[in-house]
Amino acid sequence: MRATKACISLDAIRHNFATLRAQVGDARIMAVVKADAYGHGLVPVARALPQADIFAVASLEEAVELRQAGIDQRILMLEGFFHADELPEIFAQELEVVVHHDAQIEALEALDSGNIQVWLKLDTGMNRLGFRPSEAIEALKRLRACQAVREPVFCMSHFANADEPDEGFAGAQLQDFLDHVEESTPPSGCRWRSIANSAAILTQPDAHLELVRPGLALYGCSPLPGKTGTDHGLIPVMTLESKLFAIKPVNKGESVGYGRSWQAQEDTRVGLVAIGYGDGYPRHARSGTPVWVNGRRVPLAGRISMDMLAVDLGPDSNDRIGDRVVLWGPELPAETVAEHADTISYTLLCGVTRRVYFEYRSRETEAN
Ligand SMILES: Cc1ncc(COP(=O)(O)O)c(C=O)c1O
Repeated sequence: MRATKACISLDAIRHNFATLRAQVGDARIMAVVKADAYGHGLVPVARALPQADIFAVASLEEAVELRQAGIDQRILMLEGFFHADELPEIFAQELEVVVHHDAQIEALEALDSGNIQVWLKLDTGMNRLGFRPSEAIEALKRLRACQAVREPVFCMSHFANADEPDEGFAGAQLQDFLDHVEESTPPSGCRWRSIANSAAILTQPDAHLELVRPGLALYGCSPLPGKTGTDHGLIPVMTLESKLFAIKPVNKGESVGYGRSWQAQEDTRVGLVAIGYGDGYPRHARSGTPVWVNGRRVPLAGRISMDMLAVDLGPDSNDRIGDRVVLWGPELPAETVAEHADTISYTLLCGVTRRVYFEYRSRETEAN
């Protein structure tokens, strides 16, 4: 059997949740599990987080998958409903929705009953989803007048560059959000305000407010340039691993792989690893990208193929066929691999394909 697998440590995800919990004081935590829990598996990740106050998904389909698996915590659809015909299912499944657009308010106005929790999204500078802060008062007024909408409406926004806090834009976004939420809510204020993603949780305590929304940090990676999850006390949840399935001597000057983009600088031994872009390993990873083999990092040699990649094990190496290879995980941060592939760790985690075998590990299951 092909040895390629993604090992998902449910203990690591619980550790990361507890680490973030300790960092955010009284703020509640919305665990962002959209995109199949950033490629880790929606249902197993949600089941590992019974303490999450609420889950965030990107679509009705993801929310229903959670409900069908018996997850009864609160669930927010981050982009709200795409069409009014989703509303009956949203009511039936007791889901919460972001409202970011007039068309969504109109759909809610057309209903004469219901009890839906709405999160009004304000666009404070991302210029993606949301009402401009100056439109908040009017939007809230309309939502409050809807028979189908539960009081109070909550407010949220999203940072454009919380990973660059020194640049000042995130601070301005936060201030704009706070000013307009204050202005537009009754004297009791908006009960739940939320703006912080992983980067803001780690760098901007002022932004924690009543509820934080970590995604990447839950999975043990850092959103901050030049940092890894370990720098924040987080543990990588996914280990993507395979095995050496061939080793061959390559002479100085000979090339390896498609395009002959890598040539041996000396006589060496090249290891073939059973993983390629068909498994989600990034095709753009450059020669020299580190790969973990037997306790050390060896460089990738040549282009990634669909089903395999090659590493330069070195002339004096003792590695053998069958030895374990880690592409990313606690031994080798996904952030480091992402840098070598001109991408971000988010895409690596989300990109592992379904032909990779997923193995879920936790102390509880190992004990059984
Ligand atoms: C609205 C919203 N909140 C929170 C998050 C979580 O972001 P991160 O993974 O950077 O913590 C995302 C992710 O894209 C998002 O779209």
